Amino acid sequence: MKTSIIGTGHVGLVTGACFAERGHQVLCVDVDRAKIAALRGGKVPIFEPGLEPLVARNVKAGRLRFGTTNREAVAFGDVVFICVPTPPLPDGKADLSYLEAVSRDIARHLDGYRLVVDKSTVPVHTGERVHEVITRHSPAGADFDVASNPEFLREGAAIEDALNPDRVVFGVESERAERVLRELYAPFKASVLATDIKSAELIKHASNSFLALKISFANALAAICERAGANVLEVTRGMGMDQRIGAAFLNPGIGYGGSCFPKDVAAFEAISKDLGYDFRLLREVQRINEDAREGFLKKVEQELWILKGKTIAAFGLSFKPGTDDVRESVALKVVQELLARGAIVRAYDPQALDQARKVVPKLKGFRTPYEAAKGADCLLLLTEWKEFLDLDFRRLKSVMAHPTVVDGRNLFDPAKLREAGFKYRSVGRP
Ligand SMILES: NC(=O)c1ccc[n+]([C@@H]2O[C@H](COP(=O)([O-])OP(=O)(O)OC[C@H]3O[C@@H](n4cnc5c(N)ncnc54)[C@H](O)[C@@H]3O)[C@@H](O)[C@H]2O)c1
Repeated sequence: MKTSIIGTGHVGLVTGACFAERGHQVLCVDVDRAKIAALRGGKVPIFEPGLEPLVARNVKAGRLRFGTTNREAVAFGDVVFICVPTPPLPDGKADLSYLEAVSRDIARHLDGYRLVVDKSTVPVHTGERVHEVITRHSPAGADFDVASNPEFLREGAAIEDALNPDRVVFGVESERAERVLRELYAPFKASVLATDIKSAELIKHASNSFLALKISFANALAAICERAGANVLEVTRGMGMDQRIGAAFLNPGIGYGGSCFPKDVAAFEAISKDLGYDFRLLREVQRINEDAREGFLKKVEQELWILKGKTIAAFGLSFKPGTDDVRESVALKVVQELLARGAIVRAYDPQALDQARKVVPKLKGFRTPYEAAKGADCLLLLTEWKEFLDLDFRRLKSVMAHPTVVDGRNLFDPAKLREAGFKYRSVGRP
């Protein structure tokens, strides 16, 4: 099926490449001409495991191509996906201006039936708005349907998630729209939930908010365990063995970040308020999340007392392992806070240093963890990249000024670190 993707970012590029991999003809467009030029030149602008060869293979096979205008997208695809950003406004609501602009563009170029599918994460009722905008700006009698197809991929595992999704959700208002989406997704062999558009939109906000809630619950438990002298990992393990609860996303740490959870929880709370429901629980989820970061910084302060002039090694900058994405990264926020308080931060990340420098230009980054740890009074583990498990702790200790580790992700084994001669602290563990 001929499919267009508008917005060739983390979601759009992965979605486009995976549709192509499953045999569809795909055109990905973006307003960012530099990005499209790079992609046409064989360069994938983001780090996502497996994405570069996937894109290369499908471009070579003639199933994946790139463009710079939404006019091309409408001309090419029977289905047109919208994958543009929906960032937070200062009041927490989602900024839907990109989505509206794209809807107007699509409307202007409509000639014959198109299925317009929103994949961006949006508040409930957005589908109706998109329908209104397209109706208002399209030629009289234009034939189209609007659908919602929320995306659940995880950065760092995006290809696997997009090729083999747990579930695919369609929000549709016509049989034709459902038929088209079922045909498009048939090669994925996924469980499909076809529902109305409003419910589909809510499924996405509810899912992300619930996952964030699990993380905040684990962080609250960690705070209690620290006061009680218990081990939060034992507590969450015991909870997770109950199938009604499940073990996933019960990991305490320095809080959730990234381009989705913070904005989606805030946007869900804001739309709930607009609908006349005060979703206090979500405010608490956000508050606990802030507390997790502040609690971690307090531990660093307890170790170093005065931060000004202290040398601190920061391991990990991306918002999670497996990506170079630093949007709303708690790791980077911690680094910024330390710099603001006068600490000297020496950073290492396997992938995200360049992206981090765009946000914090004066950040001192190093090519190896050992260089970053040189002369450090304290080492902070901020993002749980697997490669940190293979660190040579003897070597690390030999280059640091003081062998203290504050582990914000409970990555290391406390006994191993103590045995190697480190003073070690983590989250919610005695
Ligand atoms: N990143 C994730 O893990 C993830 C997962 C699920 C859902 N989502 C949602 O998907 C949406 C996109 O997120 P993302 O992470 O891919 O964002 P992104 O910033 O990586 O990509 C968005 C792209 O859209 C382009 N764009 C902006 N305006 C445009 C326009 N008028 N015409 C064409 N292109 C335009 C931008 O240049 C950019 O390349 C958001 O709503 C997000 O919440 C993201």
